[in-house]
Amino acid sequence: MRVLTGIQASGKLHIGNYFGAMKPMVELQEDHELFTFIANYHSLTSSKDAETLRQNTVEAAVDYLAVGIDPEKTTFWVQSHVPEVLELYWILSKFTPMGLLERAHSYKDKVAKGIPASHALFSYPVLMAADILLYDVEKVPVGKDQIQHVEMTRDIAIKFNNEYGDLFTLPEHMVSEEVATIPGIDGQKMSKSYGNAIDLFMDEKPLQKRCNKIVSSSTPLGEPLAWEDCNIYNLAALFLDEAQKKELQERYRSGKEGYGHFKKYLKELIWEELAEAREKRAYYLDHMDEVHDILAMGANKAKAIADAKMEKVRAAIGL
Ligand code: TYM
Repeated sequence: MRVLTGIQASGKLHIGNYFGAMKPMVELQEDHELFTFIANYHSLTSSKDAETLRQNTVEAAVDYLAVGIDPEKTTFWVQSHVPEVLELYWILSKFTPMGLLERAHSYKDKVAKGIPASHALFSYPVLMAADILLYDVEKVPVGKDQIQHVEMTRDIAIKFNNEYGDLFTLPEHMVSEEVATIPGIDGQKMSKSYGNAIDLFMDEKPLQKRCNKIVSSSTPLGEPLAWEDCNIYNLAALFLDEAQKKELQERYRSGKEGYGHFKKYLKELIWEELAEAREKRAYYLDHMDEVHDILAMGANKAKAIADAKMEKVRAAIGL
């Protein structure tokens, strides 16, 4: 089964990206035909200068490789290296009612948060539809915030197929409940643009500092703590199996430890989880030629599929 997902290159990747997208990807590549890319055209909507976007794009690629994307198994590329996606984006725009885009939560949220309302931001879901439909993808693994975009992709594909023949595979989203929305240090959805993220690859001290900023209630030491709505617990739970979660709940209930202990514990969990990835990351940062070769190989594979698909699309619509 062909599975595709993308991740933006808008700065440092965070724990939300890791559990919501990267880790599931690394697992899926074992028994699925996985396509994944760095969505740098999408990142342009929030980019301020060329050098930063360029840098963020390669860094996101390095991070992806570091956490275990295997270029032998997975087709992995940079979105703008297969520019055919922009042609499809324009064609799909014809099949996208204005009302559909006006209902997009992500657009409304971003504008409400003060991001200027540009046409690119508004039509962002159409480009995402092009990403997905270009490769005849069946499943799109994403976090909860992207479900609506996958549904819009289906709507656009259905409209095209009804008018010009069944050319596009209808994709479905794939969301795993436990990691649908990873909370940030303030308990809201973790997001770069909300300033509440814990970055994946921080040095140990800044990581501890960041964990110390997690908002928790102020129960005095000696009293049992409630784990149910605790941000620290919710983040720590991502790293734990059922038995370990029970143990942590017991530690909360015992009243012997305060939030400071759990913040330290969380830092250790993050630090350990990423130990191997940190080593791989250092390797790739030292071997950037290899990274560029991997991305070029991925773009070639993706382009061959995109070219064949675009020939059919152009023929179907009379271009
Ligand atoms: P982006 O870059 O914002 O996020 C990448 C992936 O990480 C997931 N994610 C989260 N999951 C759980 N909790 C969180 N706090 C959290 N924050 C981020 C996102 O759901 C996503 O799966 N538009 C997309 C990129 C994209 C794409 C595509 C995805 C472009 N084309 C085609 C799938 C298919 C985006 O901005 O993701």
